Amino acid sequence: MSDTKGRLDDTLGEILARRKARGRLRKLSNTPTDFVDFSSNGYLSLSTNLEIQKSLLSRLQAEVATPKDSNGSRDSHRSLLGSGGSRLLDGNSPFAESLEDKIASFHGAEAALLFTSAYDANTGLLGSVPQPGDVIIYDELIHASVHEGMRVSRAAKKIPFAHSSISEAQRGRTTDTKESRAISGSKNQGLGHVLRELAKDERVASCKANVFICVEGLYSMDGDTILLKEIVETVDQYLPSGNGYIIVDEAHSVGVFGKDGRGLVCQLGLEDRIWARVLGFGKAIGCAGGVVLCSPVTRSYLINYAKSLIYTTSMTFTSLASIDVVYDFLVSGQSEPLRRYLETLIYYTRHKLCALYTRLRPDRHTLYVEETTLKSPIIPVLTASPRSLAEHCQRFGFMVRPIVSPTVPAGSERVRICLHFANTKKQVDELCDVIEAWVRNQMSKVASQGNTESLKLKEIAHVFAKGDKPRL
Ligand SMILES: Cc1ncc(COP(=O)(O)O)c(C=O)c1O
Repeated sequence: MSDTKGRLDDTLGEILARRKARGRLRKLSNTPTDFVDFSSNGYLSLSTNLEIQKSLLSRLQAEVATPKDSNGSRDSHRSLLGSGGSRLLDGNSPFAESLEDKIASFHGAEAALLFTSAYDANTGLLGSVPQPGDVIIYDELIHASVHEGMRVSRAAKKIPFAHSSISEAQRGRTTDTKESRAISGSKNQGLGHVLRELAKDERVASCKANVFICVEGLYSMDGDTILLKEIVETVDQYLPSGNGYIIVDEAHSVGVFGKDGRGLVCQLGLEDRIWARVLGFGKAIGCAGGVVLCSPVTRSYLINYAKSLIYTTSMTFTSLASIDVVYDFLVSGQSEPLRRYLETLIYYTRHKLCALYTRLRPDRHTLYVEETTLKSPIIPVLTASPRSLAEHCQRFGFMVRPIVSPTVPAGSERVRICLHFANTKKQVDELCDVIEAWVRNQMSKVASQGNTESLKLKEIAHVFAKGDKPRL
């Protein structure tokens, strides 16, 4: 190794050591196959669905058996492995285009454009569409890929708004004072306030500047959905000339919400009111990749300007075929029973966790479970000791993950439980028993420390406060 490389490694090593000292060092790990999965985002367990797997295999076999041409060249079979290049060069195919048509029509959109990931779809969309002078407003908990898109975007302003907070009344306040913002836990204003202030800008009022409003359909850390109808109304109210463009990231809500898993926008019948949707295939859909649902003009614009589409090798036939067989499954209505079972499991698990919390009454640093009627497969179990709780569950064979700052705002650390079609009520019972044992143990530790609060507990007096850090 040359001296220069050694020096760089020293520098990187020091940065990593500092990160480790802050308890934030990330490491790759392999999930043991015999663990019960309460962690992955495959909410419908489609990637392990035998019917879908069989369909994929026969699609691949049919593709291999079909010669590309009959001229007897050595390159006479289609490629299952690589696409051959960017969509703009040799990586396009009638199959990719027909899949886009199928996806657009299923979700009630005019057009669709595939990306190799939803991350790329967000960076491509936000990085290219907003023009100089435009404004992007985003939910403070928006995904890291939207932050990355905004970072490279030419938009003049990027303004966060308090998570899921639309009107002042909704945040339980009548005036927008510093104190009321502190109570709601966010330093940011609600969407209504941000738009009201923005509407005073002459360029916005006269439609010389466009305003993009970015939200998610289902937030992956809190498991909550957005009040999309209210967002549409608020945008209409403050930007009546129509220069407010709503973008909904449905990475987590596609497959989970709406008829046959069409997503939140379809569930609410807002297809015509949302300017663009970003769907991810890596979560409930059980594959990998992403897509932007938009107008044909926007699609054409992205083909011309979205760098994450232009300068990358497009999806392989195998990836496209995986998405295609899953969409066939959705279109045929076969996913409905899966979603119905998942819904009962969500209700069951929330009920069990809330009962546990009510019965044990731990202090909020030890454990807190919010009582909600959310039909979301993501359930955050808040605790100031997420690593300890997650390790405890893992010791008993349940894969749950600790989620710590900066992925979530400091003070709102948690263990995230993700439910799947493949999970059983018995597994949920066992997980809850394991969590209960940990809570009891923590409570007895606290009791034996007497009534004196530890310094750590004091430090996290702001537990559950929210900030505007990007999520990963
Ligand atoms: C809200 C949201 N958007 C986009 C992405 C990126 O998805 P992909 O894994 O397809 O890149 C994620 C993934 O974690 C996400 O949670």
